[in-house]
Amino acid sequence: MIRPFTFPDLDRILQIERQSFPKSPYDWGTFMNLYYLYPQTFLVYVGETCDREEGRISGYIIFSPEGHIISIAVHPQHRRTGIGRQLLQRAMEVTPKKKIWAEVRKSNQGAQTFYLRMGFQITGVVPNYYGNEDALIVQWGPTAR
Ligand SMILES: CC(C)(COP(=O)(O)OP(=O)(O)OC[C@H]1O[C@@H](n2cnc3c(N)ncnc32)[C@H](O)[C@@H]1OP(=O)(O)O)[C@@H](O)C(=O)NCCC(=O)NCCS
Repeated sequence: MIRPFTFPDLDRILQIERQSFPKSPYDWGTFMNLYYLYPQTFLVYVGETCDREEGRISGYIIFSPEGHIISIAVHPQHRRTGIGRQLLQRAMEVTPKKKIWAEVRKSNQGAQTFYLRMGFQITGVVPNYYGNEDALIVQWGPTAR
């Protein structure tokens, strides 16, 4: 099930975040700001493999209404089971212009393969976007096809 983020989800989201982005995890305040900015498009994936609701959250996505993916992550134990695909597909379905884009670390081969598999194309590079590392811009939609 994919549903909007609620406050009790935050501890689990922070746990997933720290394991997914060890170099630069978002903190509590950043997630709160993102929630206030994008309450409709901060979504969590809830699985069925744990009794506790909190423990069943295995991934999340945050995107702007225009289609900018701010962040997407799946708990390492739940990767390669289609959760990222479902979260990204939801964003692809609801953005009105059917155009989605994201920044990806040049070293993040796994995420690049994921986006390419989802039909995205690499459309640009932003030098030193992450301080000491470039970002690739990946895009899905009419202008990228
Ligand atoms: C990128 C990420 C969100 C993908 O989530 P996921 O739930 O594992 O992805 P899915 O299972 O839906 O994968 C869909 C397809 O993408 C491809 N793919 C996904 N992760 C991949 C990887 N690490 N290496 C190669 N291909 C990958 C595969 O083709 C996969 O299909 P398959 O498993 O049937 O072969 C997840 O790996 C993650 O949280 N990574 C750390 C955070 C991150 O890098 N986020 C993106 C930053 S821009």
